Amino acid sequence: MLVCCHQRVFLVLWLISSLCACGRAVEPGTAEAARSTPTHPLALAQRATPVRVPPPPMGWSSWNSLGEGVNHDVIKAEADGLASLNTRITSGARYEYVNIDEGWWRSGQRDESGNFIVDTTQWSGGMQAIARYIHGKGLKAGIYIDAGPRGCGKRADGTHFVGSDFAYYDHDFLQFAQWGFDFVKVDFCGGAAENYDPQTTYRSIAQAIRRAYSQTGQLMTFSVCDGGTVPTNKSFPDYDEGPWVWGAGVGTMWRTTRDIAPDFGSVTYNLAGNYHPEGQHTGYYNDPDMMVAAMGMSAVHDQAHVSLWAIAGAPMILGNDLAKPLAADTASLLTNPEVLAIDQDALGLQGLLVAQSGRLQVWAKLLAGTAQRAVVLFNNSARDAPMTVTWEALGLVPSSQATVRDVWAQKDLGRFTASYTAPNVPAGGVTMLAVSGTDSVPAIWEPGLLAGGAAYSRCPACPGGEKVTRLGRAYFRGSASTARGGFVEIGYVNDRAQTAYAQLAMNGKRPTTLAFPPTGGDGRVGAVTVYVSFQAGSNMLALSNADPSIPAPDIGYVVTVGGPVPVASAISTAH
Ligand code: GLA
Repeated sequence: MLVCCHQRVFLVLWLISSLCACGRAVEPGTAEAARSTPTHPLALAQRATPVRVPPPPMGWSSWNSLGEGVNHDVIKAEADGLASLNTRITSGARYEYVNIDEGWWRSGQRDESGNFIVDTTQWSGGMQAIARYIHGKGLKAGIYIDAGPRGCGKRADGTHFVGSDFAYYDHDFLQFAQWGFDFVKVDFCGGAAENYDPQTTYRSIAQAIRRAYSQTGQLMTFSVCDGGTVPTNKSFPDYDEGPWVWGAGVGTMWRTTRDIAPDFGSVTYNLAGNYHPEGQHTGYYNDPDMMVAAMGMSAVHDQAHVSLWAIAGAPMILGNDLAKPLAADTASLLTNPEVLAIDQDALGLQGLLVAQSGRLQVWAKLLAGTAQRAVVLFNNSARDAPMTVTWEALGLVPSSQATVRDVWAQKDLGRFTASYTAPNVPAGGVTMLAVSGTDSVPAIWEPGLLAGGAAYSRCPACPGGEKVTRLGRAYFRGSASTARGGFVEIGYVNDRAQTAYAQLAMNGKRPTTLAFPPTGGDGRVGAVTVYVSFQAGSNMLALSNADPSIPAPDIGYVVTVGGPVPVASAISTAH
């Protein structure tokens, strides 16, 4: 847990440490401004309202149930199925995307201008016709391609499907946008075969998608499908180089693991490989793969699978065949509004593993609102078991009272002090809870040196009456009693109509790109929350604008907020 130091002690420590830090905090040759006024205490009431970040995409993809057997009629039937599933969701988020995976470009040929030759016996009316049909159902349409010249799967004649390539990116992504697609998944089988560097490749594709947008006005959600194996290091997963490290600001979501299969060992393997909570924030998502619920696992495993994807805040892309009539229990499994709301929570964070004993795991997710947490008690053992979650593990005041709700049953369980014990979590299954308690007091990060043209300016709506403007780079110093991770909330102003961006670096480590959605044109302060790693003692957080041509937000404050406390040990895949 983080320690909120006494204000005066903190101020003295800050002054001492900022004096020591001067030499290394400011880059040579950049303008610098030291804050002259003492920092302010931050009352809870002064914190900004959280800004909703884009939620993890929800939808359906063809791959798990149809493989390469995609065509106009089957996709049409699946779109009908998804639209009808949506009518069973009584409130909140609904499934949105109908994604056509590999197999749509059967010919693999281009005309003399480089245009895809689409088999019109497979796609009557062409690709734009199926996109139009999907849109007509109130849904969005997705398509698929490889980053390299060769696809992953093989066609009926034994040859590989065909992908895109550097020379075609501009053409191909413009074409997808012109056809009306809203989502594109880009695989890396051909990229790996060519020994392409995933990061460089996907950045080029992101640029092509941006250019397609500026030419057509068609926004496409970019799904990166590289599980993190880089050509120079074939070990899997390549922890330091995977898209969870560089994906934020490149794609909306990125695969983290190998392909899922409809067996529970595969589900838990992908859950473990997807555990990169520092990578998932402000609308960028780790992707443990399309779902295999309702594809032959037991009802208990299916429910665990959906719960674990929801607590992870993972993209909820269904894979089961929706053209067939759905059994009533399958429909309830996929349409529980409270489970979907946990997945789609406004903060967009990944749930953390907060306790582990053998094959019993407690997962918890920080939710928007005051002192709200979601919890999954996951019993991956062979016997039913009681399981306990403590408020301390959830980052709530340990001895306080909290209300507990069973999310699947949609039933309040009562008020409990310090912990809750579920009497009987089924073998291979879960109990999923919503807990509403009392948060610890947030600890302010002291604003310090500025560089690169950044300056303090008046901000009546900011807690301290000032904000950092014209990033540049701004440093904030905070204290932690642990080397485990925790949550920081960043109050900011972005009065443009578009999202602004800044990079966050903790203690000089590799930065991640944060997105700051608009806060409105009237100087209002909004907030986003990010999971970061700490070192015990003093920590330095830098926010900077890596590219001056991209608008950055003004920064009003940084505070550490209470949230689930991760276990120290590495996650066990327990499958
Ligand atoms: C790869 C991807 C899958 C699917 C197939 C298609 O294996 O990881 O999700 O797209 O290719 O061949």
